[in-house]
Amino acid sequence: MYSLYFCKNIVNVGEFANNSQIKIICDTSVKTKEMKEFFQENKKIAKTITEVAGLANYLWQKGWAERNAGNISVNLSEMMGDSEFELEHYPMFQLERSYDALANLYFFVTGTGKRMRDLAISPMNNACIIKMNKKGNAYHIISMKKRNLYNFRPTSELPTHLAVHNLLVSAGSKNKAVVHTHPNELVAMTQIPRFQTAEMLNKTLWGMHPEAFVFVPRGVFMVPYILPGSHKIADATIEGFKNGHEVVIWEKHGAFAIGETVSDAFDMIDILAKSAQIWFMAMQSGNEPEGLNDEQLLELKEAFLKK
Ligand code: 13P
Ligand code: ZN
Repeated sequence: MYSLYFCKNIVNVGEFANNSQIKIICDTSVKTKEMKEFFQENKKIAKTITEVAGLANYLWQKGWAERNAGNISVNLSEMMGDSEFELEHYPMFQLERSYDALANLYFFVTGTGKRMRDLAISPMNNACIIKMNKKGNAYHIISMKKRNLYNFRPTSELPTHLAVHNLLVSAGSKNKAVVHTHPNELVAMTQIPRFQTAEMLNKTLWGMHPEAFVFVPRGVFMVPYILPGSHKIADATIEGFKNGHEVVIWEKHGAFAIGETVSDAFDMIDILAKSAQIWFMAMQSGNEPEGLNDEQLLELKEAFLKK
């Protein structure tokens, strides 16, 4: 059981899936009105949030976002310009780890327990904007009214989102968006023991249609089943992104992808999910799909992947 300290009153907020100690410190004069206006006036941020809302709708329509499934984060820092906020007005949440490269950066982050179908309609009530502190070991929620914070926290997968952003920022990557979702056919494939290695899964996914190989030439990185919301799954996930993959598959759970925008990250998962769907359709017809052979893959490589 964790405690939430709110304006010196202790309020019980129950347990959080990411096991993080939640501590809120604030004063009573939260300046949310000015902040809300700032986000509405900043066209780049407004566009990004609209794009996230659109994506949330696709995820729901695809059947990949049952209940609160999935979460999204976007690094907004470059869009914030020279904006300065009086952070002492915004509650601060301590993190269990430090993310040095994220010091003072801003992120749009979906909320834990929030439905993608609700996010699609009302993004700012189902997600928030956080600013990391100068040590990178705590964050302020700067987009929400104080009273709404009683039932709002960022996603339980925040350890993975922050670890991935930390890696991307450290590497000077152009990728600002991180998307986690539960694509049915891809998850189903990870229930089949022979597809629990990246080598076998990639070979099969690449073989189902040419786009899979052309757009995801590095293939997926596989993370064996690990408790969701944990630092352990975050650590395992960043190994994949460190090695140049753009999609990491969590066995029996879902996919994590990165991209310059949320649409780019979604495309990666969507292409692979199409492959998985074709594989199942062929299998359901009673036939093991043939797949593209090595020669055909090589031909695609020569035609589309030569620099
Ligand atoms: P959140 O609601 O905490 O974002 O969790 C959804 C999910 O998919 C966990 O892996
Ligand atoms: Zn999940």
